[in-house]
Amino acid sequence: MLSQNIYTDRILILDFGSQYTQLLARRIRSIGVYCTLLAWNASEKQIRECNPNGIILSGGPESSITHDSPRAVNYIFHAGVPILGICYGMQVMAVQLGGNVQSSNQREFGYAQITITGHSPLLPPLLSGTNTAEKILMDVWMSHSDHVSKVPSNFITIASTEKCPVVIMANEKQRFYGVQFHPEVTHTPKGLSLIEQFVRMICQCTALWTSKNIIDDTTKQINNQITNDRVILGLSGGVDSSVTALLLHHAIGNRLICVFIDNGLLRLGEAQQVITMFSNSFGLNIIHIAAEERFLQALSGIQEPEAKRKIIGRVFIEIFEEEAARLGNIKWLAQGTIYSDVIESGMTSTAKTRVIKSHHNVGGLPKKMRLQLLEPLKTLFKDEVREIGMQLGLSSSILHRHPFPGPGLSVRILGEVTKEYCNLLRSADAILVEELHKANLYNKVSQAFTVFLPIRSVSVIGDNRKYDWVIAVRAVETTDFMTAQWANLTYEFLSTVSNRIINEIQGISRVVYDISSKPPATIEWE
Ligand code: XMP
Repeated sequence: MLSQNIYTDRILILDFGSQYTQLLARRIRSIGVYCTLLAWNASEKQIRECNPNGIILSGGPESSITHDSPRAVNYIFHAGVPILGICYGMQVMAVQLGGNVQSSNQREFGYAQITITGHSPLLPPLLSGTNTAEKILMDVWMSHSDHVSKVPSNFITIASTEKCPVVIMANEKQRFYGVQFHPEVTHTPKGLSLIEQFVRMICQCTALWTSKNIIDDTTKQINNQITNDRVILGLSGGVDSSVTALLLHHAIGNRLICVFIDNGLLRLGEAQQVITMFSNSFGLNIIHIAAEERFLQALSGIQEPEAKRKIIGRVFIEIFEEEAARLGNIKWLAQGTIYSDVIESGMTSTAKTRVIKSHHNVGGLPKKMRLQLLEPLKTLFKDEVREIGMQLGLSSSILHRHPFPGPGLSVRILGEVTKEYCNLLRSADAILVEELHKANLYNKVSQAFTVFLPIRSVSVIGDNRKYDWVIAVRAVETTDFMTAQWANLTYEFLSTVSNRIINEIQGISRVVYDISSKPPATIEWE
């Protein structure tokens, strides 16, 4: 069993709003070091509490020249730990320590080759290529128009380009560094190596952040926290709740009680799959509640998407509470909250995003039921959750399944939800997914599904005129689900899917393909 605390050595990233901040955090963790994110305006108290071995100032969209642009609290420069500023973070460091930043109309965007003119422990050990003058060159990825024009006192310039006089700056005594390029993106081939130099050599962090250590540590923590109590968990079969279930089962065995509520809005065969896998294969203690009628009744006559979401959330909570009351004497509620949820919930983010759709979750449960909350995945990113799931034996087909919304098929049936519509949609969806697998496309698109349109369209089959429903096929490519492109599926593939849906499902007369990107069209239709 692990004796060291895997959270002790840590890097803190102050987030100035770069689109790569989470990627940077993932890179540090991939090196084996825990790292955490705080907003750029984190207070001295928050930073002291975090007690990091090193601080990274992220890039950001603002210009450090404008007088009201974001600045880090001055305390970081007196905290006695190494600091690395990246892009905007480097410029902010320069400005705050008495250097100069200049704006330029020569924007550097994309690939650049920098010339290294000095030595530093920050530099990757083996740098690629030398030019004719035997200077060392490094390929990097840049995205800036402002640049540091004068380094603060006690800093030296380590690298430059023709357009940018200071690409890397360093104050070796204080261990403060700035890089104008983005080491966190894969287009900077030696970027990960530079981050590793900073984290492991300069900040002296030990690499303890591995799936096995995370599992051991979480197991220990859970047992300390709950002693002999029982824990209840709403198991949906999605990646986060499944990994939470397996991790808890690993830690406390049958003191974990999973409640699987079949709301009748799941994909074809899904309920049976979840029960068979978790109950039979993994031996989890699962209560299966068949609640299709109850959900459909509550949804009867309801057209409005937000109203449907709220009803589903409410009925879910009602059933869950009934079950907890029936079981009695349960003190803990486990949830599959992951680190991105924590960041997105605004606890650490700079800008609070407007709620476009209220996402269905069980957030109201602990307060009402006076349960204490257990969130074992709270510090993990999605790919870390998947790695842990894999270690615990979850199949890759579950771990890499496309996301499925909490309110299920109800947000893929426009307007009122009925059993007939659900059944038609389930069959169409199963055909699409089967064809995606057959064509080896399932893992190439980020999310694909069908949508039921409650409009009738005419078709002619033989001599018969039919007047049946319409199905839309939606497939998107995205990395973060905040923006998405419609997937460029071939006509041949779309034609196969359309033929099968129309021929195999009685009641569908027409199939259309959704060619809208997000923004403005959201991924789901409701
Ligand atoms: P949108 O439709 O907002 O979807 O572009 C972005 C991602 O979120 C999923 N989604 C939901 N997930 N409850 C969920 O748990 C919801 O109410 C919900 N609405 C959308 C959607 O499938 C996509 O992956």
